[in-house]
Amino acid sequence: MTTVLLTGAAGYIGSHTWLALQAAGFSVVGLDDFSNSSPEVLERLRELGGRRPVFERASVTDAAALDAVFARHRIDAVVHFAAFKAVGESAAQPLAYYANNVGGLVGTCQAMQRHGVKTLVFSSSATVYGEPKYLPYDEAHPLSAMNVYGRTKLFGEQILRDLEASDPAWKIAWLRYFNPVGAHESGRIGEDPRGVPNNLMPYVTQVAVGRREFLQVFGGDYDTPDGTGVRDYLHVMDLAEGHVAALRYLLDHGASITTNLGTGQGTSVLQLVQAFERASGRPIPYRIVDRRPGDLPAFWADPTLARERLGWRTRRDLDAMCADSWRWQSANPQGYA
Ligand code: UFG
Repeated sequence: MTTVLLTGAAGYIGSHTWLALQAAGFSVVGLDDFSNSSPEVLERLRELGGRRPVFERASVTDAAALDAVFARHRIDAVVHFAAFKAVGESAAQPLAYYANNVGGLVGTCQAMQRHGVKTLVFSSSATVYGEPKYLPYDEAHPLSAMNVYGRTKLFGEQILRDLEASDPAWKIAWLRYFNPVGAHESGRIGEDPRGVPNNLMPYVTQVAVGRREFLQVFGGDYDTPDGTGVRDYLHVMDLAEGHVAALRYLLDHGASITTNLGTGQGTSVLQLVQAFERASGRPIPYRIVDRRPGDLPAFWADPTLARERLGWRTRRDLDAMCADSWRWQSANPQGYA
C-alpha cells in the first residue's frame, strides 16, 4: 500500500484530501501544527474513515520533527498543503509568510531528500498567473504575483523547478487551485476560518447562520455581466479528488505535471449568493461596497490539461457546492469550536 504524508492535513483542503486518498486506497499519515486548524478535525476523520487517523503534530519548519516522522513511517510520497493563505495578513507579516510557506516547503523537501522520498504534490494557486493577459488562464499563461502570499506560491513553484532540474528522480505535481468551496457531503468536516472570513463562501455561510449581519460585496462596477467579481469556484471534494489523480499520475507515469484545477466556469458574487439562497432557503442580506484593493475583476481556468492528462474533471455543480457548504455550516454554526 502506498503511504502518503499530508502536511497541513487538518486544514480545509488537507482534511478533505485525507478522506479522498483513503477512499482511493492510499494509506495516509497526517501532519499539522494546528496553527490554523483544529484537533477536532481528527475526531471527525476517525468517525468518517472508520479508523483512527495516523497523525503527527509538528510544524513543517521543524527539521528534527520532520526527520522523526520520516523515521517512524515508511513514506512513499508527500502532499504538501501546510501554508498560510490570507492575502491581507501576508502584507502585514511577510516574514511569517516566507518562513512558513517558503521555509516550510524547503524544509519538507530537505527532509524528503534525506529519507529518499522524491514524489511531491504541491499546493499552488491561480494567483501565480497575476493580471490576466487572456482568459481563461491556461498553464502557459505568464506568471507574476500581486501580493506577498502570491509571491510565496510563485517562489515555491520556482524552487521546485530548480529541485527537479537538479535531480530528475523528483516527480512533482504543481497544482494551481482556483476557488475551493463546499464541504464533505456528510457535513462533518468543512471550512472553519479563524476570525472574520477573508473568502466569500465562509462569509456567506456565517451570514446565513446569523454570525454576521450582512455580506459586503466588494465592488459592483466591474466589467462583468452583473458588475461583481467573477471566479471559478470548485467543490473541495472535486479538488481533493484532483490530488488523488495527480498523485496517481506521478506514481504511474513517472513524470511531473503542472496543471490547473478548476471547473472552467466563471460565477459572479451575486450568482453565488443567489445559488446559496436557493440551496439554504435563507436570505443573504448584502451591501455593495468599494472594491477590495488588489482584487482582479474576473478569472477562471482552462481545465483541459487536467482532463487530458489526469483524466480528472469536476463533477459537482454550484448547487452542490452551496448545499454542502450549508450542510456543514448549519450543523456546525461555530465550526469545530
Ligand atoms: N468577495 C466579496 N465579499 C467578501 C469576500 C469576497 O464580495 O466578503 C468577493 C471578492 O471581491 C471576489 C470574490 O468574492 O470577487 C472571491 O473572493 P475570495 O476572497 O473568496 O477569493 P479570491 O479569488 O479573492 O482569492 C483567491 C484565493 C487566494 C488567492 C487569490 C488570488 O482564496 O488564496 O484568489 O487572487 F490569493
